[in-house]
Amino acid sequence: MSGSSRQQRNPYPGFFLKGDKMKVAVFSTKSYDREFLDQANRRFGHELVYFEPHLRRETALLAQGFPAVCVFVNDTLDAETLARLAEGGTRLIALRCAGFNNVDLPAADRLGFTVVRVPAYSPHAVAEHTVALLLAVDRQIHRAYNRVREGNFALEGLLGWDLHGQTVGIIGTGKIGRVVAKILNGFGCRLLAYDPYPDPECRALGVDYVPLESLFARSDIITLHCPLTPQTHHLIDDNALKQMKDGVVLINTSRGALVDTRAVIRHLKSGKIGHLALDVYEEEADLFFEDLSNQVIQDDVFARLLTFPNVLITAHQAFFTRNALENIAQTTLQNIADVEQGRPCPNLVTLEMVARG
Ligand code: NAI
Repeated sequence: MSGSSRQQRNPYPGFFLKGDKMKVAVFSTKSYDREFLDQANRRFGHELVYFEPHLRRETALLAQGFPAVCVFVNDTLDAETLARLAEGGTRLIALRCAGFNNVDLPAADRLGFTVVRVPAYSPHAVAEHTVALLLAVDRQIHRAYNRVREGNFALEGLLGWDLHGQTVGIIGTGKIGRVVAKILNGFGCRLLAYDPYPDPECRALGVDYVPLESLFARSDIITLHCPLTPQTHHLIDDNALKQMKDGVVLINTSRGALVDTRAVIRHLKSGKIGHLALDVYEEEADLFFEDLSNQVIQDDVFARLLTFPNVLITAHQAFFTRNALENIAQTTLQNIADVEQGRPCPNLVTLEMVARG
């Protein structure tokens, strides 16, 4: 962790391994992770050992003897998992994602872990997927696709609206929210935003920063691009939904737990929410990234969501472009090399970042 006096003396205690290559336990590995990491690793020569399971307290033992673990969004690095990793000799956590809500950072700090991440692998990938979801629910592309394949060419039920002139509320105008603002500006949308740290580029674009309550009350479409922190957990709850326009379109490509799914289901049933598009879900860890098509889904809340005709869900694929995977692999391995060689790493995750939200 940065920011401590310990770091000024020695940024990464125990990592001056010049000559040795870092042995990294890569968790939650899929074929595409392996492909892109192996390709990028030709430049670095780290020893990458791939594990399919998520990292959680039950699987932490797999990392015994590895100085570094490489993890993704649905690995759970709570205090217990971190304690087990520390016991096994691990000292570096390399996140191959931007969000770090799945790491107990105060515990990581106490245990002396260095945590690095990939802050920006392709904001365009996520922003473009957000807009793809918006266009899909607006023009009901997912339903039209099925209808036409079945020889049903009727248009009843597929009526959309022009995006031009719609008011879109963007919550969080960091790297991704800013790109969403630029794209939707091109569509001729009116743009509102809420962010404790307004972005000058968005301001220059004409984005109107307003209090959250005003954004809820005035937006036809609301899209979430803020991080998941204790302050933003269930940001979209019963109270927030009640303040929104009837028929509001809600899009979440950020983190599932920003949204209280049970509250959303109530407001879908009442008709308050016109359309819902999700790329993330608060209990996604046991569902997403796996082929469960031969199994019965045990999560009743998720199963209920799937029954609504006006809900479109993708399984955390917003980041999933070739460009993004190349950048993730390259930056992750560079982060590991920086720590290994004792060089300053620009992608450290610090306790101050949690405080900032
Ligand atoms: P960023 O750090 O550049 O921007 C986040 C913005 O949210 C900042 O401007 C920050 O000031 C603002 N913010 C913080 N607290 C807020 C609050 N309470 N209300 C409103 N705004 C607040 O992050 P970036 O790269 O734009 O990513 C945003 C989120 O997108 C990530 O935290 C991650 O959870 C998610 N993500 C999802 C992916 C996917 O595949 N679905 C891929 C990559 C990121």
